Amino acid sequence: MIKETTAQFLAAHPQMKYVFFGGKGGVGKTVMAGAAALWMAGQGKRTLLASTNPVHSLSSLLDQDVFGTPTSVQGVPNLEAYEIDTKDTIERSKVELTQKIEWFLKYADIKTKADEFVESATMNPAFEESAMFENMIDLMFEDKYDTYVFDTAPTANARRLLGMSSVYGMWVNKMMQSREEAKSLKELLSYSKKEKKDPLMDYLISFRERMENAKNLLTDEQKTAFFFIALPEALPIAVIKRFINWFKEFGIPLGGVVVNMLIDKESVGENTPDFVINRIAMQDNYMEEIWHSFPDTRAIIPLFETEVRGVEMLQRTANHLFA
Ligand SMILES: Nc1ncnc2c1ncn2[C@@H]1O[C@H](COP(=O)(O)OP(=O)(O)O)[C@@H](O)[C@H]1O
Ligand SMILES: [Mg+2]
Repeated sequence: MIKETTAQFLAAHPQMKYVFFGGKGGVGKTVMAGAAALWMAGQGKRTLLASTNPVHSLSSLLDQDVFGTPTSVQGVPNLEAYEIDTKDTIERSKVELTQKIEWFLKYADIKTKADEFVESATMNPAFEESAMFENMIDLMFEDKYDTYVFDTAPTANARRLLGMSSVYGMWVNKMMQSREEAKSLKELLSYSKKEKKDPLMDYLISFRERMENAKNLLTDEQKTAFFFIALPEALPIAVIKRFINWFKEFGIPLGGVVVNMLIDKESVGENTPDFVINRIAMQDNYMEEIWHSFPDTRAIIPLFETEVRGVEMLQRTANHLFA
């Protein structure tokens, strides 16, 4: 039995502002993010449905082009959707990184071009993730909307994104420490005592501040909630169990579990094929496990007769998600 529904959970968290959906690929993260955003907009909150995932699907979900800029969703007041342009983000990050490396090389009196450093840094796959993460927190800091619903990247990525904020913090502290040391050494050795501006240091300080703010937002139980989507099947359940443990470790607040694609038993009749009957029996077994392992299950969404596309189907999904 459901102890607290999604609607009850949100009513108990009136300041809720950042809502995320996680789970295995294909379980319905994008669909659930869309349904939740639709519902929140319907509550009169100015809502942004954003995708930080390099593989976008919001345009297809909404049957409307929402790539590259926040776009009003047709027929839905208060709702804008936005697929972040990954390429653009990465290009901008590259330009910024080049500038910082140039500052550093100049500061250290090293006569090398920054290009080589930039090339090797941006070859790292973590560079893309880190660029997307920054993009997400930029959106959060802009604070233009009442609520944000993020269609997150699949599980492992999402965790890494969030884990990164503490790693960033440590890294920047270390960088600043060695920089302070280098600076005082340089001042000792230099003839002129006049204070030179240190843009890299300024950047590191503001960067650390941003990361701390991001971490504060992402771990604020009143403002942030991660929902996980399970199917009544072995793998999606196993993925969530692992995921929930990771998140507890990072202190990231859990909103609860949503079960998706449960076959409605009412639809079983005399002519129902064995194939469907067998699937229902399998789902029954996994539902027992779900009730046992996820006491904070918030909603059950039935398997619909078609895929979920367009506002009308999203509304149908939302009716179950917020039943
Ligand atoms: N309850 C449901 N009934 C029928 N189809 C669904 C349901 N939930 C999701 N789908 C469909 O399943 C597919 C995967 O959903 P999606 O939200 O894209 O998953 P994810 O974002 O987790 O990869 C999509 O085609 C979607 O329309
Ligand atoms: Mg998706």
